[in-house]
Parts: sequence; structure tokens; C-alpha cells
Amino acid sequence: MNEVYEKVKRCYESIEDKIKIKPKVAIVLGSGLGDYADDIRVEAELNYSEIAEFPVSTVPGHAGKFIFGYVKDVPVVCMKGRIHYYEGYPISDVVLPVRLMHMMGAEILFLTNASGGINSDFGAGDFMLIKDHISCFAPNPLVGKNIDEFGTRFPDMSQIYDRKLMDTIRHVAREQEITLREGIYLQLTGPSFESPAEIRMLRTLGADAVGMSTVVEAIAANHCGMKICGISCVCNLAAGMSENPLTHEEVQEAANQAAPRFKRLITESVVAFQSI
Ligand code: HPA
Repeated sequence: MNEVYEKVKRCYESIEDKIKIKPKVAIVLGSGLGDYADDIRVEAELNYSEIAEFPVSTVPGHAGKFIFGYVKDVPVVCMKGRIHYYEGYPISDVVLPVRLMHMMGAEILFLTNASGGINSDFGAGDFMLIKDHISCFAPNPLVGKNIDEFGTRFPDMSQIYDRKLMDTIRHVAREQEITLREGIYLQLTGPSFESPAEIRMLRTLGADAVGMSTVVEAIAANHCGMKICGISCVCNLAAGMSENPLTHEEVQEAANQAAPRFKRLITESVVAFQSI
């Protein structure tokens, strides 16, 4: 059997008894967006540190736990704190939580993150629906022996972000009068922010926003057949686009300010997913 698969399975078996609900939607909360969990009718919480062999996040603002509960009537599992490649974990550990949530039964993966805006039409605090992505220097999590239990060796990636989920999010944003940008999200490894020259390069490559997560998770989720959607909170203008140096605190502050709109957008979208 595949070692990576075995590890996910051992994680699952170590918590199986504690999971009382079968989540339909798995939600990954990005930097500073963790407060969303307040909107969930919580049934159970599980600290990552309680899960055998689970990689534990070390970033401030990424308190690590799974929250099980209901958004209105929809059963969800929510990751408060994700694992980043820049923390030094092997890429298979970075995507382990997504595979674990798939094993829990989640069919839909709702990815969120904080990003730097590259598209000059974007401003800090904007939300961007992720229409497609670019992986840039982050290793592909499917490298190694294929895990047949999850999916095929050469998965199609021509429609990673589900059309119906995107349409639903667009509809909800219109109803809620929340401005929703759309674009391409590009993942670099971090942890350093980009240089202005790199941002010019990424713009040329076709990226609208840049961050340090999400793409590898989407690749793993697509491999195992989950339906995927993503929203990026553009927390700052990317390097060289404003006078200010970038700080993690600025990113968190912008995410905090966007939180009330973000909560509405996520909650109403998750509820609307039920009828898809
Ligand atoms: N670059 C990379 N990641 C980020 C940024 C950024 O400007 N802002 C928030 N996450």
C-alpha cells in the first residue's frame, strides 16, 4: 500500500469515533478569516494536535483545528488554520488535511485565502472568485507513486473550479450586494513576499492575485474527485504597486475588516450549494 495513503488513513482512523456528522462541504479558512467559525453551529471541535501524525501549523493567526457543525442546515467541516509548504512540511503533509476531509465524506471543497492583488483594478479588501490557478514553484502534491484509492495518475485539470459552484457564488454575491472580482490565483511557496520584479513577471504570466496556498490543495482535491470553489480576499496591493512595505499584520488587518462581508458570502453560498 501507498505510504502517503496509509498516513491519511491512520489519521482518519484515529479520529473516526469523534466525527459525529458527515460533512457535505469542507471549508478552508485563510489568514485572518478564521473568525468565520463563529457562524457555525458547532457540534464538535478537534485540535490538530489531537490527531495522530497530523502536521501542526505554526503561523500566528492560523490556530489549528477542525470544526464540525452546521451552516444553517448544511453539515460542514471547517479548517481553522491550514498547513503551508513554507513551514517546512513535505507537500504530501500540506495536502493531507484536504484528503482527510475527503475521507470524512466531504464532496465540496471551499477554499479561501488572503492574497496580494496584481490586477490593477483590484483594491485591498476586494474578494476574488478563483476561476483558475497557476502553480509556480510549489511542488505538485501528486508526484510519487499514484494513490489509486484517490484518483487517476494523470488527472484532467481543464475545469478545476466547478462551474455550478462559481455560478452560485456569483448569484449570492449579487443578492448580497457584495462586489465580487474574478481572476486567476497564483501560488508561490513564500514565506517571503514577492519582489516588484517578480510581481511584474506574475502579471505577464496572467495572474490576478498571488498567495502562498490553495493551488496545491486544489490539485489534491481535484485528484480525489471533490468539487472545488475558491474565494481570495485581496488584502494588499502586491509588491511595488503601492509605497508601503508588506507585512503579515497588514494582511491580517485587511482580512479582519473584510470578515463580516466574507462571512455572509460564505454562509449564503454554502446554503445555496445544497440545492445544486
Ligand atoms: N503576496 C503573497 N501572499 C500574500 C500576499 C502577497 O502580497 N498578501 C497576502 N498573502
